[in-house]
Amino acid sequence: MENNLKSKKIKSFPGIAPLLAPSILAADFMKLGTQIEALKDNGVHYVHFDVMDGHFVPSISFGVPVLSSVRKDPDLFIDAHLMIENPDKYISVFADGGADLITIHAEASNDLFSDIAHIHECGCLAGLSIKPGTPVTDVLPYIDDLDLILVMTVEPGFGGQAYIEESDQRIREIRKIRDEAGVSCLIQVDGGIKAENVDRVLKAGAEVIVAGTAVFGEDIAGNINKFNEAFKKFCD
Ligand code: DX5
Ligand code: ZN
Repeated sequence: MENNLKSKKIKSFPGIAPLLAPSILAADFMKLGTQIEALKDNGVHYVHFDVMDGHFVPSISFGVPVLSSVRKDPDLFIDAHLMIENPDKYISVFADGGADLITIHAEASNDLFSDIAHIHECGCLAGLSIKPGTPVTDVLPYIDDLDLILVMTVEPGFGGQAYIEESDQRIREIRKIRDEAGVSCLIQVDGGIKAENVDRVLKAGAEVIVAGTAVFGEDIAGNINKFNEAFKKFCD
């Protein structure tokens, strides 16, 4: 498995910020293919996989079988957010399954330098996520090696939670750290984000917006359109 990973080409992000990253945790798995087609029909080629192991976070979600099914569509950018213990054991498995970006948690890794290098060796972009209680300065030593920093805006483990208000300040701090370091990693936020509150995280400096329940509700096209309108208003 490791060999063919060596030849795996690192794919770049599907577009420029602000990017919408729909979390399929909120999708209807009886209609996953149709719902992903609806994302693409509305200009979104990015899917965020919230992988949960029931140990690092209380829930169990899904793993490589779902990811590799979705990988059959080459036009998608697959972002695997590993909310799991011992992520080092699963990096090559998710890379081989078809992830384009693998994000691990600072609180779960035993050797972040090695894990981030391993993600790149497996032909994926590397992301680092911090829970709401983890100091934002914990990302500093790794910032030169990262393609993305994920600031959790809820306690990881469940979709549909309320945005933690204090996250604004944390996003601002991470954005300041990134800009002062002169590096190009993107800033992603995840949890409790809707078209109605996305402006606050954009203003704080977020660039990649994970949204589950706010996208995979009744009207996917309409939900995406609301985010696009908010993005356009922010950019104008
Ligand atoms: C946290 C998960 C959720 C999910 C998004 O464990 O990572 O944040 O992606 O959930 P919503 O957008 O439904 O709040
Ligand atoms: Zn996530």
